[in-house]
Amino acid sequence: MMVSTQPLFKHAYGKYAIGAYNINNAEQIMGLFKGNLDSKAPFIIQISKGARSYTDKRLLEAMIRAADEIFPEAVFSVHLDHGDEKSCMDCIASGFYNSVMIDASGEPYEKNIEITRRIVEAAHKKGMAVEAELGTLGGVEEHVSVSEADAHLTDPEQAADFIKRSGCDSLACAFGTSHGAYKFAGGQGLHFDVITDIQRRVPKFPLVMHGSSSVPQDEVQRINAAGGKMKGAKGVDEAQISKAATMGVTKVNIDTDGRLVWCRVHRESFRDNPENFDLRPPGKIFMVEYAKYIAHKNIVLGSAGQLDAVRKAI
Ligand code: G3H
Ligand code: 13P
Ligand code: ZN
Repeated sequence: MMVSTQPLFKHAYGKYAIGAYNINNAEQIMGLFKGNLDSKAPFIIQISKGARSYTDKRLLEAMIRAADEIFPEAVFSVHLDHGDEKSCMDCIASGFYNSVMIDASGEPYEKNIEITRRIVEAAHKKGMAVEAELGTLGGVEEHVSVSEADAHLTDPEQAADFIKRSGCDSLACAFGTSHGAYKFAGGQGLHFDVITDIQRRVPKFPLVMHGSSSVPQDEVQRINAAGGKMKGAKGVDEAQISKAATMGVTKVNIDTDGRLVWCRVHRESFRDNPENFDLRPPGKIFMVEYAKYIAHKNIVLGSAGQLDAVRKAI
C-alpha cells in the first residue's frame, strides 16, 4: 500500500527511523519489498534523477505498482531523491510520488528558501510532502562532487528559520555524513550535538540523514577478494545510526550499501562460475542477499516489527 510520508514520520518520530532505500532495477525492487516484509517494516522507496533516466522513469513506476500487487502487505512511500526544480515539478505533475526532495542546498540561503517555497506550494496543492536540504554533505551527488573540506554542517538556528519560512515537511541536515563509500576521512563520526540542538529548536519536526550507508567491512573485504579495488571504504557506525533514530532523525537514506551487496554478489558469482554468462544466477542470489541486508538494517533503524502498528495508525 502506497501511503503519504507524513503518517509514517508521525508514527516513527523519536522512536525509530524509516529506511529510505534507493532503487534502480527490478532485482532491487524485489529484494527491497521482500526484506521489508520479512522484517515487518514500513519503508520509503527513493528514486534519484539518475535512476529515473537509467532505463525509463515509467518502467520504475510500473515495477513499483506491480510490486505493490505482488506484496499487498507492504506499507511504503515513493520519494524523489535529490530533485532539482524541474524534476520535482515533473514528479508533482505525475501524481505518482508521495513526496519529493528539492535539493537547493548548493544555493545561497535566501535562494534555497525561495526555490523550496515554490516546490512546497506546488506539492501541497497535490497533497504531496517536500523534503528540503540545508547544509552541505561531502561526497558525490549525481554529477556534483563535494570535497570533505567544502562540506559544512547545518546551522541549528538557521534550520529553525528555514523550516518556518520555506514550509518544508522534513529537512535533510548535514550531521557529518557524506554520500558514497568513502566517509569520515577525518575519522569523525556523527555530530550528535548538532542533532540535539536542531531537535530542541524544532521539536517533533522530522529530520533526514543522507549518506547513511554503513559500508559493511565484510562486504568490502569480499568485493576486494573477488577482484575489487575498494581501498579505505568506510561508512557510518550502526550504533550511531540507532542512536540518531531516537533523536528526531526520522528518515535514513541508504543507497551505497545496496550497491555493495550487488557488487559482491556479482563479483563472487562470476569468479566462482567462470563458465556462466547468464544474468539470472547472480540476480537470484542478489535478491535474497539484498532482502537480508534490508531486514538487518531495519533492526538497526528500529523500524523492524512496526508494520502492524503503522497499519493501525494510518
Ligand atoms: O544521494 C545520492 C544517491 O546515492 C543517488 O545516487 O544519483 O547515482 O542515483 P545516483
Ligand atoms: P549513501 O551513499 O551513504 O548510501 O547515501 C545515500 C543517500 O543519501 C541518498 O540520498
Ligand atoms: Zn542523499
